[in-house]
Amino acid sequence: MLGSVIFGFMAGPIPQAFIDDLLSRIDIVDVISPRVTMKKSGSNHMACCPFHNEKTPSFSVSQTKQFYYCFGCGEKGNAIGFLMAYENMHFVDAIETLAESVGLEVPRDELAAKMHSDNRPLYALLESVADFFQAQLRDSPESIDYLKARGLSGETAKRFGIGYAPDGWDALTNAITGAEEDLIKTGMLIRKDAQRSYQRFRNRIMFPIRDRRGRVIGFGGRVLDNQEPKYLNSPETPLFHKGSELYGLFEARKAIQDVDMVIVVEGYMDVVALAQHNIDNAVATLGTAANQQHSEILFKVVPNIVFCFDGDKAGRKAAWRALVNTLPCLQDGRDAHFLFLPDGEDPDSIVTKHGHAGFQDLLAQRQSIIDFLYDHLASELDMTSIGGKATLADKAKPLLDTIPRSVYKQLATRKLETLIGIPMGSNNAGAPPAPKTQNRVQNNSDNLTAMSRSVLLALQHPSIITEQDLTQLKIDTNLRGSDVLLKIIEHCTADPTITTARLLERFSDSPNYGFLSNLAVKPYWPDNRELDAQTALDEFTHSLKQLQARSLKTDASKVDASARTGLLSIPKKS
Ligand code: UTP
Ligand code: MN
Repeated sequence: MLGSVIFGFMAGPIPQAFIDDLLSRIDIVDVISPRVTMKKSGSNHMACCPFHNEKTPSFSVSQTKQFYYCFGCGEKGNAIGFLMAYENMHFVDAIETLAESVGLEVPRDELAAKMHSDNRPLYALLESVADFFQAQLRDSPESIDYLKARGLSGETAKRFGIGYAPDGWDALTNAITGAEEDLIKTGMLIRKDAQRSYQRFRNRIMFPIRDRRGRVIGFGGRVLDNQEPKYLNSPETPLFHKGSELYGLFEARKAIQDVDMVIVVEGYMDVVALAQHNIDNAVATLGTAANQQHSEILFKVVPNIVFCFDGDKAGRKAAWRALVNTLPCLQDGRDAHFLFLPDGEDPDSIVTKHGHAGFQDLLAQRQSIIDFLYDHLASELDMTSIGGKATLADKAKPLLDTIPRSVYKQLATRKLETLIGIPMGSNNAGAPPAPKTQNRVQNNSDNLTAMSRSVLLALQHPSIITEQDLTQLKIDTNLRGSDVLLKIIEHCTADPTITTARLLERFSDSPNYGFLSNLAVKPYWPDNRELDAQTALDEFTHSLKQLQARSLKTDASKVDASARTGLLSIPKKS
């Protein structure tokens, strides 16, 4: 799982025992229900999936398993995974949020804490820096005039926490004392030599950059005149990674969801000016091209992205990069468009000149990502010639290949066929995925080995382990998966109330995690009937017998089998 990777380098390890304890105290239904409207259905809660667009609910949350799974798009996980996916949180943030909700303090390995350090003081520091800049703005008539001249109201400035960094070298250190090291760490000060440092932002309008939880992680600062550089941004710091942040996302979140669309623009001022005209669903990349991570982040929040660029050459080039980076993120339910502005204009200038309606009129003329793809390629070709058409197909093919299999891809391919006038070969690049139910029939437990079936049953109904006497059971440790099964049996025996989610979390650092989490949600029956506890117990007993028979066969066929293959006995129940 992603969590275990991030876990490795994002922060000091949080003890596994704590995560386990945390998962046993929270209820996944309490975590999800404030965020997604669910209906109780049998032993599960059902909802329209928050991770893909759908009209009929296929997102199910199991209270007994403490696990969620979407039959439509395959998203799955425990409460931690849900927060990571839904709130775009890092693993550690998700743990902290959950811990907070039940009043637990997250312990950290002390040594690791020293190495990776806790960033909380840095967030608090930047919050006070932002407050300081805001206070300074109130005392700077020149800055207030500048913002007014650009059409911003005090209300908008306040909403975005816009401030002013005074001129000089040490205003910040004078205002916030005793934090020099941390001010350097957050990029607010630049070290000059061993004794001295000076402030990075001087005489600039300051735009605080917030992360998705609303915490200030950095700043962009604009000069009030024509000096260079026009904008100065926070450097990469432990809190701020330019390539994975979007300016304004926190502020725009609600509007994005209301309008069901996000507009991606290039500049701070574009976001703010649009908001000034009640277009509140815009975000900006931070002086970098829109990358794949940006698109992924946005698609987790909303299914429709509109990239807004200048109509000039540089704008088209940036747009093409955004296109290339977005194609791999497309899937059914998601869509992306491009809006090219008249030469020399940006969203700020358009909306300031032509108002809300003027911008909306332009927005209505946005071009779909697929149309842009073909238009852009065709613009350099003679599409009336056979050669031109063939080249278009040739150039489009590798790009289309980056779109995940979907109806979307199929339609995009068909569009190309209409453009060039012939079908695109028979490799069926755009074949839609097989209907979900059919998938599940193929993947049902009949195709699993007795070992996988046992693991699946134990994962889905951990209580079956303690409901039967396993003391006589011997399993050949040469059988693939025996180590996992034995571990599961061990965990369940040690804690008879363990849930699927907690059991899985114990494997979060294991290379088997992906395999196990798939088994944990795999329907057992071809017709997706629910597997009740009694049947699970019967099936488990049956699978174990098969395993046992196989183990004994191996045992008999080898002279000193128990010594070499290490037949393992199941630990006695405590
Ligand atoms: P623009 O120059 O288009 O900015 O740069 P803008 O928002 O229209 O600026 P105004 O209207 O003159 O105030 C777009 C973005 O590129 C980054 C900033 O993030 C800016 O918002 N940029 C630009 C820099 O980082 N440094 C610069 O010197 C210029
Ligand atoms: Mn501008």
